[in-house]
Amino acid sequence: MNKDIIERTIAYVRSELSGIEAGHDWEHVKRVWKLAKHIAETEKVDVFVVELGALLHDIADSKFHGGSEDIGPEKAANFLNSLHVDEVVIDQVVKIIKNISYKGGNHVQEFKSPELDVIQDADRLDAMGAIGIARTFNFGGYKNRPLYDPEIKPDLNMDKETYKQRLSPTINHFYEKLFLLKDRMNTAEGKRLAQDRHSFMVEFVDRFFEEWDF
Ligand code: ADP
Ligand code: NI
Repeated sequence: MNKDIIERTIAYVRSELSGIEAGHDWEHVKRVWKLAKHIAETEKVDVFVVELGALLHDIADSKFHGGSEDIGPEKAANFLNSLHVDEVVIDQVVKIIKNISYKGGNHVQEFKSPELDVIQDADRLDAMGAIGIARTFNFGGYKNRPLYDPEIKPDLNMDKETYKQRLSPTINHFYEKLFLLKDRMNTAEGKRLAQDRHSFMVEFVDRFFEEWDF
């Protein structure tokens, strides 16, 4: 029964995300789902909620929906309702989708759960390391942003709205978000996996500036 629901959710997410920017596509969701299942093995969580939350976490990212943060949770709830998933499970998944996002890291997260901790770690791990670098430059390209501009300094004190509207060079994103992630991991396994991905990004940015200033 649960297995069937997971299969149908996969099919739904794949079709909904087809054609979307490559950093937030089905392949991103698939990596997050796999990482979340791995971390879930080391934590006391409801694995069904973790799987559904991971699969549906980017079903309608506000960046691609005119800034609206309600469409994603609403779509997920409607979809899960159509499969007659238990209301308690739907409620947890909806809260996870509403609260997973980073948004500058300076706002108070309204909801916490062990399942959200796991999925948030998985989503953050996919923002780090080699994949994180690839996703970040893909997003910058998608927005037609410069790689680097010495005139525009990173800003670490942005509120949620400023963060979302920010048009800074792509390399700034490392200082504004990616380098901060390793100290924001929730789970022990998440923290462990973040170390190596973090070091790799630091090495990359060092080389980037070395070559820039040749
Ligand atoms: P969250 O949902 O945690 O706020 P986002 O969806 O904003 O995360 O970001 C996911 C990934 O998309 C980032 O880790 C990065 O790779 C890319 N991205 C998002 N915003 C930017 C940005 N302003 N510049 C470059 N990359 C970005
Ligand atoms: Ni994501």
